[in-house]
Amino acid sequence: KLRVLSGIQPTGDSFHLGNYLGAVRQWVALQDTHETYYCVVDLHAITVEQDPKVLRHRTRLSAAQLLALGVDPDRSALFVQSHVPEHAQLGWVLECQTGFGEASRMTQFKDKASKQGTDRASVGLFTYPVLQAADILLYQANAVPVGEDQRQHLELTRDLAQRFNKRLGKTFTVPEPYIVKGTAKIYDLQDPTSKMSKSASTGNGLIELLEDPKRSAKKIRSAVTDTGREVVFDAENKAGVANLLTIYSALTSRTIAELEAAYEGKGYGDLKKDLAEVLVDFVTPFQAQVQSYMDDVAELDKVLARGAERAREVASRTLAAAYDRIGFLPPS
Ligand code: TYM
Repeated sequence: KLRVLSGIQPTGDSFHLGNYLGAVRQWVALQDTHETYYCVVDLHAITVEQDPKVLRHRTRLSAAQLLALGVDPDRSALFVQSHVPEHAQLGWVLECQTGFGEASRMTQFKDKASKQGTDRASVGLFTYPVLQAADILLYQANAVPVGEDQRQHLELTRDLAQRFNKRLGKTFTVPEPYIVKGTAKIYDLQDPTSKMSKSASTGNGLIELLEDPKRSAKKIRSAVTDTGREVVFDAENKAGVANLLTIYSALTSRTIAELEAAYEGKGYGDLKKDLAEVLVDFVTPFQAQVQSYMDDVAELDKVLARGAERAREVASRTLAAAYDRIGFLPPS
């Protein structure tokens, strides 16, 4: 079986619709065909300041959301990144293979650092993409399901794997990004030309899976569209409507063409009203499930411990090989 790895940050009080449609939905589907490793990346989260108590809570809450969305701990190794020390260890080795200029070109770093100011942005934020490469390469992952915004980090990962293999002998599988075109970028409901994002979206542009469903419904109904009235998919001229159709299609498995046909002769209002209902029907049982996982933290922690154990089996082998290749003396 081919291997898959992906990760998600435990930041914010909830995953948003972009996280689900762009990434986690594919994580769930790939369990049927691949050997899957999914982690809550708490090491990545601390690249910006976190309150310790809040971080711990959000780490569990992230795991609970993944389970509620369909990550099956019997088929996937579901774990917390800091429980597998090999991530930080391989991260260091790879940092020493990464050019300073190469890391400087990462656009997510540039965006975040420019927002915080280079004096306040941490060195961890700078080396973040290299740690992400370690996450992936430790598991010899063939495919990495992510949204479009992670493409550049995947390119870096591939470059690092190829460079290491070429210089020191085949050690890492060179991974392919697994980016599903239709849902690779879900847009902000108020600004449908920029991506939906925890940090950048305004409250009304962002659908959080754990917020009050009534609030989500209201956001859908007040999503920015255009002055036209025909419900057709035209990403260039009708970005708002196209985004709503993308979301609608992904949540119902009805194709865009079917939806266009169904809304022929109707208006944007009908589309929004129906999509709001679809969304409420999706998040209501999801929220109940998250709650039930959070009600039994002992069990949740057990699931994560089991996941970490499975992950370490693979990660420790890869790290040992990389340490050997680089010339570290084996401890006897
Ligand atoms: P993060 O936590 O920001 O986001 C988790 C996943 O959600 C996707 N995503 C989106 N997809 C479509 N439309 C959007 N508006 C949208 N917003 C977010 C992201 O692309 C991502 O797949 N660096 C990663 C976490 C990470 C990782 C890894 C991923 C750490 N190590 C190893 C893959 C493999 C991140 O910050 O994702």
